[in-house]
Amino acid sequence: MTISVFEDYHALSAHAASFIAGQLRIKPSLTLCMASGHTPALTVEMLVNTILSEKIDYSGFRFIGLDEWLGLPPENSGSCHYFFKTKLIDPLQLSPSQYFLFDAMSPDPAAECKKMDAVIAERGIDIMLVGIGMNGHIGFNEPGTSFLSLCHVAALDDTTKSVGQKYFNEQMELSKGITTGLGQLLTASTVLLMANGSKKAPVIQKAVEGPVKESFPASIIQRHPNAVILTDKEAAALLNTSR
Ligand code: GLP
Repeated sequence: MTISVFEDYHALSAHAASFIAGQLRIKPSLTLCMASGHTPALTVEMLVNTILSEKIDYSGFRFIGLDEWLGLPPENSGSCHYFFKTKLIDPLQLSPSQYFLFDAMSPDPAAECKKMDAVIAERGIDIMLVGIGMNGHIGFNEPGTSFLSLCHVAALDDTTKSVGQKYFNEQMELSKGITTGLGQLLTASTVLLMANGSKKAPVIQKAVEGPVKESFPASIIQRHPNAVILTDKEAAALLNTSR
């Protein structure tokens, strides 16, 4: 596990975007599995700009959405689908064969999970870019989720339900998510865990320096052989300074 601390959110995002773009140059068939949310918003914007301005070949690029609010239509601006469509899929004009998103409206979410399990098993994940929730979740792997989990439907805990309101213009009834699993995080070649802002300092400290346990899902990062923690100064504020 390596930890890189950046001056601010802009520098952090620029680094993440440039890392992914660099890997895409090396491996044009790169598969990126990525979270939506506030943390990676600037990264994805910078990544798209870099790919287009530097004319990086992305014809073989594949993209997997990390998670989704179950039952939320894709046109809802708070959905992960909407985030990826407006920030990545449309700007890069990705063809439907280049991206894989959970269908949160499917009448058979278990089948959605099996479909995504098959995509991940077939392609593998080169880079998994994740954020961290205020309860230590990754994707919708809530506290108590097995470190061996594959794609699954998750009952959201109270923290996730209340913090999740920040993505929506009106009060939402959030009860379940559909998510890739922690077992799949462990199979990714590289995991980038990003966090910014002082609010995230306690959870980053627990993820990086606390005990590795399923009751704090992000602590799994300590088990990954090639995990990179990227934070701004504020999110790193509680980390052991001798690092
Ligand atoms: C959300 C999502 C995660 C995301 C995390 C942090 O609920 N399920 O995929 O990474 O919480 O979100 P943010 O970056 O907006 O703080």
